[in-house]
Amino acid sequence: MTSKDNSKAALIDSLNGLLADTFALYVKTKNFHWHVRGPQFHDLHLLFDTQATEIFGLTDLIAERVRKLGGTTLTSIGSIAAKTSIKDEDDTRLDAQAMVKELFEDNSAYVAALKATKELAGEAGDNATDGIIDDWTDQAEQRAWFLREIIA
Ligand SMILES: [Fe+2]
Repeated sequence: MTSKDNSKAALIDSLNGLLADTFALYVKTKNFHWHVRGPQFHDLHLLFDTQATEIFGLTDLIAERVRKLGGTTLTSIGSIAAKTSIKDEDDTRLDAQAMVKELFEDNSAYVAALKATKELAGEAGDNATDGIIDDWTDQAEQRAWFLREIIA
């Protein structure tokens, strides 16, 4: 394997990790959309839905970047679970503020994952991924900002 092949393989692996995080964050955000309770119910129910829709919109773009690079991508819930670093939250009675805090931390970690993937795109000479990641990062930073401002 040449060093160019190595850097491409590392980028594909990173994109697949990002895709797994994207699916996991989508499900967690929908989970909170469904289970949030309390005086902020209406606002948070709507905010989580808006954010979930935005997150889901990234999945196809990330997977198709992997295919355009000649790699294979995720195939199943099992492959998502194996690759994601977003932790499950199955407590349906979680406090609304705790939900906001958890999504803020997950979206902040997601920004860090995007930055790491962008660096690998640069090393692999993949201009398209390098460029498109800036939009994904701006979206994730906006989600993190909206969540951060709600934390009491
Ligand atoms: Fe809904």
